[in-house]
Amino acid sequence: MPIPFIDLQAQRRRLGQPLEDAILEVVRSGAYVMGPQIAALEAELARFGHAPHALTCGSGTEALILPLMAWGIGPGDAVFCPSFTFAATAEVIPLVGATPVFVDIRPDTYNIDPERLTAAIGAVEREGRLKPKAIIAVDLFGQPADYPSLHHVAQVHGLKLIADSAQGFGCALDEKQPIHWADVTATSFFPAKPLGCYGDGGAVLSKDPALHERMVSLRVHGQAVASDLEGRAFGHDAKYLNMRVGLNARMDTLQAAVLLQKLTIFEDEIAARNRVADRYAEHLAGTVVTPAVIDGGVSVWAQYTIETPDRDGLAAALREKGVPTAVYYPVPMHRQAPYRDFPQGEGGLPVTEAKAGSVLSLPMHPYLEPDTQDQIIAAIHAHVKRNR
Ligand SMILES: Cc1ncc(COP(=O)(O)O)c(C=O)c1O
Repeated sequence: MPIPFIDLQAQRRRLGQPLEDAILEVVRSGAYVMGPQIAALEAELARFGHAPHALTCGSGTEALILPLMAWGIGPGDAVFCPSFTFAATAEVIPLVGATPVFVDIRPDTYNIDPERLTAAIGAVEREGRLKPKAIIAVDLFGQPADYPSLHHVAQVHGLKLIADSAQGFGCALDEKQPIHWADVTATSFFPAKPLGCYGDGGAVLSKDPALHERMVSLRVHGQAVASDLEGRAFGHDAKYLNMRVGLNARMDTLQAAVLLQKLTIFEDEIAARNRVADRYAEHLAGTVVTPAVIDGGVSVWAQYTIETPDRDGLAAALREKGVPTAVYYPVPMHRQAPYRDFPQGEGGLPVTEAKAGSVLSLPMHPYLEPDTQDQIIAAIHAHVKRNR
């Protein structure tokens, strides 16, 4: 049996018949778009995420675009984000017409470095060409960014703070989730994410009711929402009143039905992921660099990412032994063709550059059995020993 990088089938077997029944219920109901499972999921996500508001949408990318659009961020505005991340984090910024400013990461956690961020904001302010508007922090590989520091920087400079928790939904810092500090948390339910659906999906958690309402409107073509209609009478269905330029960013009802089932075991899966991570850390210490988690942080381990100077050699040796690995991310965003000319924080991005050449992610999921994990660990030890 080949070792899977992520084992979604083990999870499907655990969820069993109720999951399949939930899907069939949607198929039979005919409520394929904005069926009752959408509101039910939004209530559950708000409860789980300790957020006043949760809005489902079609992907994690849309979950990042919606707040930027709702705040009116656009041409002439600077949005600060890491370069060591998945494309969507940076992509949404030029999509709304704003300019991404890439900021280096901390060498231990791979998350945006608050000191480098302060320096980058200062440089943009001094230059005066762009207006600093927002920060997108990423909970890379599942662990929370340094939100207390980022919140402080955002307050000092009057910036919005977005937690891109596509990989980190469910992570915590001092027992609080990123929304405690951030204005919004955006997440993805892409199947490989810690909480994934059976296709594309996403959600935005938020605290400001006016922001939430505006995103409700933007999600469906800028349709009129309660505050647009206050004190006004229209002679036709308000559904066809378009108050602002929006999107079609709805989540499918089927995905909401899947996620409602998966949420029931999510806490348990996070605990299982942490057991797997602890076991890797215990057995790989001293052989390769094992991941560090921020003090007080709980990761949801979207990835278990190690570092070694002989990254490509190790990956090849593991592949030979049937152990799949992945490199997230071999080419940082500031080196990708469409992003090359965007500004970088003062001092460039040396940590990002170095990490892109040394990181390697190992199989990680809640159903990784100790025996299988032992094979992976033994294969790493064998290769490292041979090459010492
Ligand atoms: C950090 C990060 N941000 C945003 C996204 C975008 O999510 P989606 O693929 O659901 O659009 C992803 C996931 O792929 C991600 O890893």
